[in-house]
Amino acid sequence: MKRTVTTLTAVAAAAALPFIQPHSLPDRADASRSTQQSTAADQARGRDPVERRIDALIRRMTTTEKLQQVQLLSDGQITDADAKAGVGGVFSLTDPDKINHFQKVAVEQSRLGIPILFAFDTIHGYRTIFPVPLGAASSFDPKVGEIDAAIGARESATVGLKQVYSPMVDVSHDPRWGRIVEGGGEDPFLNSAFSAARVRGAQGSDYSKPDKVAASVKHFVAYGQPEGGRDYNTTDMSERRLRDLYLPPFKAAVDAGVASVMCSFNSLNGVPGCANHETETDILKKEWRFDGFVVSDYTAVAETRACPPVMPAEGSCGHGTAADGPSAGAQALMAGTDQEMVSTYVRDYGAGLLRSGDISRARLDDAVRRILRVKFRAGLFENPYVDVAKAKDPASFLTPSDRAAARKAAGESMVLLKNSSATLPMSPAKKTAVIGPLGDDQHNMLGPWWGRGEDKDAVSVYTGVKAVSPTATYTPGCTLVDSEPPNIKPTDYCATDAGFDAAVAAAQAADQVIIAVGETRGMSAEAASRSDISLPGLQQQLIDRIKATGKPFAVVLFNGRPLTIPEVDATAPAILEAWFPGVEAGNAVADVVFGKVNPGGKLPVSFPVTVGQVPIYYNHEPTGRPCDIGQKYVSRYRDLDTCDPLYSFGHGLSYTTFDVSAPRLDRTSVSRNGKVTATMTVTNTGSVAGDEVAQLYLHDPVASLSQPVRRLVGFERVTLAPGQSKVVRFTLDRGAFGFHDNDGRLVVEPGTIELYGGSSSKADKKVTFTVTR
Ligand code: NOJ
Repeated sequence: MKRTVTTLTAVAAAAALPFIQPHSLPDRADASRSTQQSTAADQARGRDPVERRIDALIRRMTTTEKLQQVQLLSDGQITDADAKAGVGGVFSLTDPDKINHFQKVAVEQSRLGIPILFAFDTIHGYRTIFPVPLGAASSFDPKVGEIDAAIGARESATVGLKQVYSPMVDVSHDPRWGRIVEGGGEDPFLNSAFSAARVRGAQGSDYSKPDKVAASVKHFVAYGQPEGGRDYNTTDMSERRLRDLYLPPFKAAVDAGVASVMCSFNSLNGVPGCANHETETDILKKEWRFDGFVVSDYTAVAETRACPPVMPAEGSCGHGTAADGPSAGAQALMAGTDQEMVSTYVRDYGAGLLRSGDISRARLDDAVRRILRVKFRAGLFENPYVDVAKAKDPASFLTPSDRAAARKAAGESMVLLKNSSATLPMSPAKKTAVIGPLGDDQHNMLGPWWGRGEDKDAVSVYTGVKAVSPTATYTPGCTLVDSEPPNIKPTDYCATDAGFDAAVAAAQAADQVIIAVGETRGMSAEAASRSDISLPGLQQQLIDRIKATGKPFAVVLFNGRPLTIPEVDATAPAILEAWFPGVEAGNAVADVVFGKVNPGGKLPVSFPVTVGQVPIYYNHEPTGRPCDIGQKYVSRYRDLDTCDPLYSFGHGLSYTTFDVSAPRLDRTSVSRNGKVTATMTVTNTGSVAGDEVAQLYLHDPVASLSQPVRRLVGFERVTLAPGQSKVVRFTLDRGAFGFHDNDGRLVVEPGTIELYGGSSSKADKKVTFTVTR
């Protein structure tokens, strides 16, 4: 796969302007928009047939019907009366009979027959569960996200869904935050590539096709940086950070033609995500010309209300930017939220709010227009119903080729963190002991958004290993129970060493050991932040006991976030990060452990040594007192003898060795609107075929605003036979060497730019070029 660096920000020629670029200029990437995105000009001239149909429909709609259209209800809320009244959307309903039932009521019994848009959280698979998104991002191969999204879209559409709440693209520097598992990690460039790829996979070029769905990029915006890592919590940040770190993956989704955007629960600089005019309207709809609709997150509109003295039964309140429900509805709609999820303020109070002038008819019409636009583009008016026979046919799901794709994706997502003395790959001919609480587990392998995946379909590590190494044994050592919320119960997590002797005996009876440890799937994703991100319970002691046997062993980790594992690193000769690999987990682990697949994944997020280092991320800004463990008055922890994470962003080993050359440039100076191309030669210098990810990082050493010590501007995963070389090419423009200021403008300053080429964020082969006036 060849990656060319794309500009993440406005790049239109404005040659007349000096070094400051207005951020509202058209983006070059507009050219690559989905064919379903009509231009504003076309819409205004009424040329677009969809726009004409919307016009005709809106003219016939009463206020009540419009207010129904902006309402999204859950599977537990929807009734025949809602469908008859013309409710706009329903989510989490996946029973095809029920979907057809409510659709029939809407189409045949509502006055205008507008079909319902049915949505679901297909995040890393519907029935064929793929690796969690953080794992997929580790592949550094956006195709992995694209294929996952395409298969998820087909399976979702098969039961009658026409919208998925994916991709989740929240950049995060906080591994305590459980939702870090749902996105692409700490880097905006990598997240952007996966964001666009997942939109392409889900929607294709035309999401009216029977196997495609409308995507919904989320959570807009800066939800990934909650204070303290606690889910839903406050975020406060500068405009430049917002623009350089958190907005780019959303822009990439919009440029790829995403149909909808979900606004976030959290407040940003004091403004709740679903009541934020600046982000929802000024940036998303005006600056980026997004013409789809914004869906609120679950009760996020209600949560803008101040909490009354007596907590409301549904508990949805808190931000306090709105005094009551009606004001919450008005605030959200006028900020740019088009569809209200679960709470019903716009629907219920909209007529009065129109009369009082708290909401405008123009805004309500705009919201309705946006929702109808997606419904027309989705082909719902032509094909409102699902083929129930096909939806109920088991052969429609989890096909052998889908399973094969999930297995390949899982293999590509694994990261070899450590491999001393070539411990891995192991020989399947030797006797293998699989040990550890996750060694014969199906439930947790599916990860935290398992859609309609079923535990019974998941391949456990032991099953996968035994298929290749038939003499393998399994001994748990201890157990991990996926604790019921709300709290993690220490007793559920490898709380006793009673089974350790049996595990030791099994290790002694074998030639080699695979230790499967980590988190449960309930320990990450929504509302699953942890204050301690180490291996839960006595799992490290179990590793220590196995080490004492002297048998060669590898630790395979299953987790939804970076863990603090310095002890694992100190004890284990080999560590394979498997994340939650999905339905083909065990087969994919066996593929890698026994060398059928040579691991080539890289970390999309830093692994701290200790949770006290959080936030620790590779693309941080420099300080006036850079960290130096030999000094006192510098930026460091006095109780930590390192400045670094345990494993850095971009790190990942292989069973072979590679050389990545220094970048070569096609020019040494470039104008601010020009382009520079960097090429690097990647060579497999070892004796087996394998994958390497060439990575290119940029640093602007002298700038009017302090710039990150480095940031990723290009990557490409290549597969090479022993001795084989490949040249990779990255083209950089102002989107790469510019940065945003605190007025939100893209700034390109003259001066030297440093580039670093290599195979991780520690890349040290440096070249420079000059940006001229
Ligand atoms: C809340 C989550 O934040 C969001 O990601 C999800 O799409 C909705 N619930 C709907 O399930």
